[in-house]
Amino acid sequence: MLLEGKTAVVLNAANKRSIAWHIAQALDTQGARLILGYQNERTKKNVSALAEELQRPPLALVACDVTRDEDMTRAASTAAEHTDGIDILVHSLAFAPKHCLERPFIETDRDAFHTAMEISAYSLPALCRSFRSQFNPGASIMAMTYYGSEKVVPNYNVMGVAKAALEASVRYLAYDLGPDQIRVNAISAGPLNTLAARGVSGFVNMLDMYGDRTPMQRGITGEDVAGTAVYLASSLASGVTGETIFVDTGYNIMGL
Ligand SMILES: NC(=O)c1ccc[n+]([C@@H]2O[C@H](COP(=O)([O-])OP(=O)(O)OC[C@H]3O[C@@H](n4cnc5c(N)ncnc54)[C@H](O)[C@@H]3O)[C@@H](O)[C@H]2O)c1
Repeated sequence: MLLEGKTAVVLNAANKRSIAWHIAQALDTQGARLILGYQNERTKKNVSALAEELQRPPLALVACDVTRDEDMTRAASTAAEHTDGIDILVHSLAFAPKHCLERPFIETDRDAFHTAMEISAYSLPALCRSFRSQFNPGASIMAMTYYGSEKVVPNYNVMGVAKAALEASVRYLAYDLGPDQIRVNAISAGPLNTLAARGVSGFVNMLDMYGDRTPMQRGITGEDVAGTAVYLASSLASGVTGETIFVDTGYNIMGL
């Protein structure tokens, strides 16, 4: 097992389709002990039920709404109570108000722009700061991103802008934390049918045609993403930091 003896904090699962849950399962299979996060009481029930499916019981379940500093502080202190240090931090959370994902980008209002940036991008450096004193040397931090940060994907809109900020944050954090041998990377996943993705207008149509346009002639699976997460979490990726790694069955290399 690649992650025997390692501890991981995975934020945040909402249900069984969540990328966070796919990653949590793969980390568990590879021997890591988990602290599993959820956003609020609404998602707590799902996550508690999912946690029963893990091979090893989670060290803790933590509520972490990233708009609340006290939640991030409490998640970090819960981790400190249950571990001798953290080896893996997974940032798998994002949000933009629905109206921004169905109307032209030019109509994005100040509050919605701020909300998308705060939850989807600012939360990464904020969480890294909250957990900083607990990272073991060799720790791996990873965040989930999407190609809409680089190219226009209709209706992805302000979320694309937030993902661009998230990817830049990954690089600056990799620079800050590199001297402590802490690595920070992003996984740019192709489309997966999750709660967050279905908030983007036209997502289901996009998913339908996606596979035909990729070199591998298929869409991606949760396991595809989770496999790369395991690699990044493991010592196999010991020299990899500041990168955005595509897990998209090759979609991003196509010109036509
Ligand atoms: N599904 C895709 O097609 C896809 C592709 C590339 C990247 N991603 C990214 O993967 C990550 C996970 O999304 P997902 O697709 O698994 O969807 P999901 O809906 O299962 O997960 C999104 C999570 O974000 C959490 N969240 C929202 N607002 C929050 C807040 N204020 N504080 C804390 N948590 C909050 C939700 O509770 C949920 O658990 C996101 O960053 C998303 O942008 C998704």
